[in-house]
Amino acid sequence: MQTNSWVPLFPEQASTFAWQVDALYFYLILISIGFTIPIVVVIFFFFVRYREKEKFMTGAEIHGSIALETVWSIIPFIISMTIFLGGAIVYYNQYNPPTDSMEVYVVGKQWMWKFQHSTGQREINELHIPVGRNVKLTMTTEDVLHDVYIPAFRTKADVIPGRYTTLWFNATKPGKYHLYCAEYCGLNHSGMGGYVYVMEQRDFDNWLAGNESGQTPVQAGQDLFQNKLGCASCHEGGASQRGAKLEGIYGHEVKLTNGQTVIADDEYIRNSILNPGSQIVEGYQPIMPTFKGQVTEEQLVSLVAYIKSLSGNTSGTTMTKPAATPTMTGGTMTGSSMTNSNSTTAPRANRGDTNSQGSNPNAPPPTGEPTNQQQR
Ligand code: CUA
Repeated sequence: MQTNSWVPLFPEQASTFAWQVDALYFYLILISIGFTIPIVVVIFFFFVRYREKEKFMTGAEIHGSIALETVWSIIPFIISMTIFLGGAIVYYNQYNPPTDSMEVYVVGKQWMWKFQHSTGQREINELHIPVGRNVKLTMTTEDVLHDVYIPAFRTKADVIPGRYTTLWFNATKPGKYHLYCAEYCGLNHSGMGGYVYVMEQRDFDNWLAGNESGQTPVQAGQDLFQNKLGCASCHEGGASQRGAKLEGIYGHEVKLTNGQTVIADDEYIRNSILNPGSQIVEGYQPIMPTFKGQVTEEQLVSLVAYIKSLSGNTSGTTMTKPAATPTMTGGTMTGSSMTNSNSTTAPRANRGDTNSQGSNPNAPPPTGEPTNQQQR
């Protein structure tokens, strides 16, 4: 392992907040040493100094000392507050992705990482990113808990079934860095890893150009919305509109029938697709059927990206906005138009299976099985 960090034995520092994490860690180590050594020394000194010199001696009575007690309360208080502040600063930096971040979608499954760039390129167990750019990962999983961990970037976050979590970083040095799954997730957990390739911007542009992008998440989402799932038949403006209007809602407050107000974020959109009855927008009837089991996590990510794009939110990508008034085919939402062409429930990976293409028909063929060569 490369260890050109200024703290001995630490992994390489390759992100903007790596030094902050190391500094905090180093500070904790120093405090631990600073307390451990004097305590051990004093223990041994007292062994000798106050050993029992003759049987049944009584010790001198002590009546306390306000000054001493104040000192040993205030000093640890100050030290613990510095640890708290340091931790809070690092936490705040790591969990507030800058708004100009380049977005990458991540879906974990037993036992592989699937990445998709907002320009459409897909990768498995590899992630190519440009150096010096803010990169935000929006992550979920098809099956169990996983955890994205990139030691050189000093960052990790759980990937949770049924939820979106985010992670961001800004890589400072071109290179190849380990990516791990840091949450025990079954038989091949230890093999669920890969590499993050940090490239100069122009190398990254070349890489992007050299990889077939297929549909971008926004385009894939638009296709699902208008054709495959038939969402447009209710959510499109006009006479047949029975569902809430989706243009411009992303990031704004939405009033619900139960009087609550929620922010229409990724999580809200996802939940509205899977549990439509749970958060109904004021003024609409609870008529939307659930799409649970009909859409894969990757399709959900695309739908969210598309609905975001209706609010002009393309997260710093260069893709073109979808047409403002998409043409609509099909009339009412009948049983048949509801049926997704691939409406089977997402199959779960079996223990015995090698990682296969999974449930997503749009996924590229696997680019090779995850190997165990990157084992720790
Ligand atoms: Cu996925 Cu451990």
